[in-house]
Amino acid sequence: MEKALEKLQKDATEALKKVKTLQELQELNVKYLGRKGELTNILKSLKDLPVAEKPKMGQVSNQVKITLENTIANKQKELENDGIEKELAKDFFDTSIPGKARKVGHIHPISQVQEEVERIFSQMGFAIMDGPEIESEYYNFEGLNIPADHPARDMQDTFFIQDKDDPKHGRMVLRTHTSPVQIRTMEKYGAPLRIIVPGRVFRYEATDTSHDTTFYQVEGLLIDKEISLSHLKGVMTDFLTRLFGKPVKVRFRPGYFPFVEPGLELDFSCLLCEGKGCRVCKKTGWVEFMGAGMVHENVLKAGGVDPKKYQGWAFGFGLTRLVMMRYGIDDIRLLTGGEQRFLEQF
Ligand code: FA5
Repeated sequence: MEKALEKLQKDATEALKKVKTLQELQELNVKYLGRKGELTNILKSLKDLPVAEKPKMGQVSNQVKITLENTIANKQKELENDGIEKELAKDFFDTSIPGKARKVGHIHPISQVQEEVERIFSQMGFAIMDGPEIESEYYNFEGLNIPADHPARDMQDTFFIQDKDDPKHGRMVLRTHTSPVQIRTMEKYGAPLRIIVPGRVFRYEATDTSHDTTFYQVEGLLIDKEISLSHLKGVMTDFLTRLFGKPVKVRFRPGYFPFVEPGLELDFSCLLCEGKGCRVCKKTGWVEFMGAGMVHENVLKAGGVDPKKYQGWAFGFGLTRLVMMRYGIDDIRLLTGGEQRFLEQF
């Protein structure tokens, strides 16, 4: 038995040296010290030995057991420490590496210019109004002196909303301009009035570098007594000069819009060449800016304002095109394309 014990201790020590994982160690533990393990079997057979041999063999086998248990416990500690070190090495965190900056959004260039426009007009005493983007045909056209069969309807190709007519005001459309808010505001507040209406509008048209199906306009409306186009010229000269931060001149040309009479187009002096003529102003020295005119008396009546007591002017310019001029953007579609690398520049 003594020999068997010696052999067992030698084999077990050899085997333990080769162990690389906790799993292997556990297997060896069971093999030698488990309930049916090799050493356990030897210990069980002690009782069959002659009485004289029992104490000595008992002592030897106990010693082997203690040695084995200690060796296994030491090996276990060693393997566990190894594991922790490996884990730590895997999760190594270098505190000296620079952090990743979190991306912060910013105001869209259209909104930036809109805010500036609102600020300048507010300082001139204009209130800022809003209106629905889904509008009735009445407010978008008829109320603005554009009857259903009038050729002027073709000037603004329209998106119609299916199955949702307004019982009083006919079919519903995506508004093609901000002008419907003229009537809505007159109905609500009467005269006198001094408002601007920035907002999104929609047209069913083929897109190109200067036309989109969704774009922004700013409407202006001033109603009071003894109002003339010279007031419009003054207001727009002041507005554009403040917006661009250098002196700007404006000029009128005749223009046609059914909701104004007389109607006109307003141009401003080219900022790039200062009126001398360049690529941007197509050698004219002037940049086309907006439609305007004295509010047609049918529109005043539609808004509930008495044309004998009050008159006024209205204008509408493309905010999106103004943003393009401001930042030198040569394709309108970039502004709504959602490309971050483009937007980050502003
Ligand atoms: C109008 O929409 C009139 N409601 C303006 C008006 C108001 C005139 C009050 C008189 C009195 P017009 O269709 O020209 O007019 O559009 C006004 C501006 O919107 C244009 O000068 C242009 O800058 C811009 N615009 C028109 N169509 C597009 C488009 N598809 N994409 C981008 N901008 C456009």
